[in-house]
Amino acid sequence: HTPELTPPDSVPDCAIAIDVLRATTTIATALNAGAEAVQVFSDMEKLMLFSEEWQPDLRLRAGERGGAKVTGCDLGNSPLDCTPERVQGRRLFISTTNGTRALQRVQESPVVLAAALINRQAAVQYLLDRQPENVWLLGSGWEGSFSLEDTVCAGAIASALADKANVDMGNDEVFGAIALYRQWQDNLLELFHHASHGQRLLRLDCLEDLKYCAQTDILDVLPIQREAGVLVKNT
Ligand code: MLT
Repeated sequence: HTPELTPPDSVPDCAIAIDVLRATTTIATALNAGAEAVQVFSDMEKLMLFSEEWQPDLRLRAGERGGAKVTGCDLGNSPLDCTPERVQGRRLFISTTNGTRALQRVQESPVVLAAALINRQAAVQYLLDRQPENVWLLGSGWEGSFSLEDTVCAGAIASALADKANVDMGNDEVFGAIALYRQWQDNLLELFHHASHGQRLLRLDCLEDLKYCAQTDILDVLPIQREAGVLVKNT
């Protein structure tokens, strides 16, 4: 699903928000690098107001619109900026065009996780261990529309589950996502070159981000919502 295509007025037992390019990749990277938590906002003004109450040396503000950094923020949305030197011990306050909206759409779910390709296996392992009955893989897309990179990541998760467990794979979207992943799993960077948001990021000179986001299973970290909008490392 993209947020706009989710069934109205309902949430699943477990929601996995996916924004491979780049919000959930950035969130996983920040937590892996030692950020205390990541707090997401769909509204930039609210982010600024809320983070004002935090000690400046314990916070980082990250803002992205249209792929570019928002003026006045410490960071944009590049996962490569989330180094331990920058983020260790700090809370990352982040607002992005689509990824943070997807997280907010499902924030009432009993379990909310953030996944990307870089931490795909951590999400799969969570599902195998906990076996929630009803799971949504929520691709952030771009302003309501389908995106190749989020769909291929949903397919990567579902494909790994299908290999390991006898689970009901759900609907036609999941079947299509698995087929997309199996076709492109060895050429994910090339697939991102075909993706409209991949092309947008390339125009903004972000090839290194695309390369980083196209890696599979490189981080063993799973962002999980602790309170509405606040993600921490699952331990
Ligand atoms: C988003 O939330 O739409 C993305 O993460 C955009 C980006 O690449 O920064």
